[in-house]
Amino acid sequence: MCGIFGIAFEKDRDDMGNILTKAAKSLTYRGYDSVGAVSVTQDGRADLRKDVGKVDEVSSKLKFDELCGNRGITQLRWATFGVPAQRNAQPHFDTHGKIVGAHNGNVVNTVHLIHDLTAKGHVFRGENDGEVVVHVVEESLKGHGDMDLAIREARNILKGDYAYVITALKGDKIYAAKMGSSLYLGVGDGFVCVSSDLPSILNLTKHIVPLLDGEYIEFDERGYEIRDINSGDHIDRKPIESPLSAESALKGEFPFFMEKEIVEQPERAQALLEFLANSEDVMPFAEEVSSANRVYLVGSGSSYNSCVIGSYYLNKLAGCATYPVVAGSFLEHFGEGVRPDDVFVLVSQSGETKDVINVLNFLTTRGMANNVLGVVNVLGSTLMMRSRRYLPLLSNLEIAVAATKTFINQCVLFLALAIEVAKLKGRASNMPDVLAKTPKAIKDVIDQMSGQAKELANKYKDCVDMYTLGYGITFGSALEAAQKIKEISYAHCEGMYSAEFKHGPLAIVTNGYPVFYLTSVEDQHMVLSHINEVTCRLGTAITVAPPSDSLEKNSTLFYPLPHSDYTLVPILSVVFMQLFSYYLTVEKGFNPDFPRNCSKTITVD
Ligand code: BG6
Repeated sequence: MCGIFGIAFEKDRDDMGNILTKAAKSLTYRGYDSVGAVSVTQDGRADLRKDVGKVDEVSSKLKFDELCGNRGITQLRWATFGVPAQRNAQPHFDTHGKIVGAHNGNVVNTVHLIHDLTAKGHVFRGENDGEVVVHVVEESLKGHGDMDLAIREARNILKGDYAYVITALKGDKIYAAKMGSSLYLGVGDGFVCVSSDLPSILNLTKHIVPLLDGEYIEFDERGYEIRDINSGDHIDRKPIESPLSAESALKGEFPFFMEKEIVEQPERAQALLEFLANSEDVMPFAEEVSSANRVYLVGSGSSYNSCVIGSYYLNKLAGCATYPVVAGSFLEHFGEGVRPDDVFVLVSQSGETKDVINVLNFLTTRGMANNVLGVVNVLGSTLMMRSRRYLPLLSNLEIAVAATKTFINQCVLFLALAIEVAKLKGRASNMPDVLAKTPKAIKDVIDQMSGQAKELANKYKDCVDMYTLGYGITFGSALEAAQKIKEISYAHCEGMYSAEFKHGPLAIVTNGYPVFYLTSVEDQHMVLSHINEVTCRLGTAITVAPPSDSLEKNSTLFYPLPHSDYTLVPILSVVFMQLFSYYLTVEKGFNPDFPRNCSKTITVD
């Protein structure tokens, strides 16, 4: 998964290089195997500079600030087709240097097309699918010289999910197409731009035009034209004002985005709760969930882990048959079993994760698009645009690759939803008002336990393997804790249901082997024996739970969470484990924001 950005001005600009570098920096979390930028002047001269490495080092080494022109394109790569190498970095020229472009996503018939087009005289400089896009457009242009038509013809040749931006040197328009990968349009004063993601656009304008798959655009500084890629028909869509602030894309005084985003969680949870309390969208959403035969909560990575916690809330508090499903497994596992009276809540902070969009496409082919509800953070994203109803997470921009504030707001949203559904099912009579207490409880963990988490991280900075276990309502928390530890500190950690640990994995426990227990006091009657199964084999049981004498006495290390209602323990225990994994990563000397091999939004299979 990569990041692309393109922009058009009226006149050549000396600061085009700086504009492209700034855009590339705000797309860093989408890939950092290589970066490139090209500027094109009004009279059609192009200057392309690209290499392997991160934006800071490449942009200074290749002096991006020298780039000048009225059109510019930059691309960041997360390698799939073609090894990370200068020849596979993007943007790419066509054979004769007449057009230049870059893509994001996957063109799965790349190898075949390189072979075919080479036989037709095309000269490829690498093995990258982004270069194939440019050559396919070049081949179409040979027949008629019409860029608009070439974009539409290329649609029938390129296979896969992608988006690209391209321009002919001798021309003044930029073209871009959205075919399964994220793409947004930004409209500003004297310029129009396009990008894979919002941060690079929000730095320049808040006026966003969401795009849908199967659409392409032609634009210059004066305006844009959206068309259907099959028919060529014009599509009228006005810009919307994005609620997301560009400031949230800045680190401020924090050393890393992840720490900033952890500290923002109480305020973002408060913002979400205020929205949910006043929104007319919550009740119809809850009614659909309440009246469903079965409810599937579907997501990937941290979003899936929040679905596990959400399913406990909906089953336990509202008696609503709810099943959490890993998005990538949905089609094979549940595809043939779905029923018209089922409801599918697709959960994705970016709203663009390919595994989730695959489920959306599948349900659409099965005539169940109306059964799809979305939980999403990025407004204007594919999931938001194509869900019949959606609820926003209001976490603002999340830059660090590892989800924190979006995960917590997913859990808060599911708790609020479960309480609404319980009311609809007449089960909420004795439910304490836990929601209002949530932001402060999260803040108390951050304020009171950061020091303990840092100490514990220091103690385990050389540890390369551990387990995180949860029971009942904290099972999803154990999965999320393991996800955080793995994705940023590179230590192996498996999240598991604590009752399951004795059925095999217990074998791994030897002297001092660390096993975390995330539990509520209400479930300690079960977890106490699980803890002793580890401590009696000299393992180290590290328990994170509300205050409890027996849990404290039976654990090797005990980290008491602030007193709270049982339903908040899954959320609060994860906040502690976010802090632990963050400090563990910093102690190990790694960058918690941009972990190797990972990316914020995976738009490929
Ligand atoms: C992965 C990220 O690429 O996508 C995870 O590294 C994230 O942190 C997962 O949880 C799902 O992303 P989204 O946007 O669908 O919630």
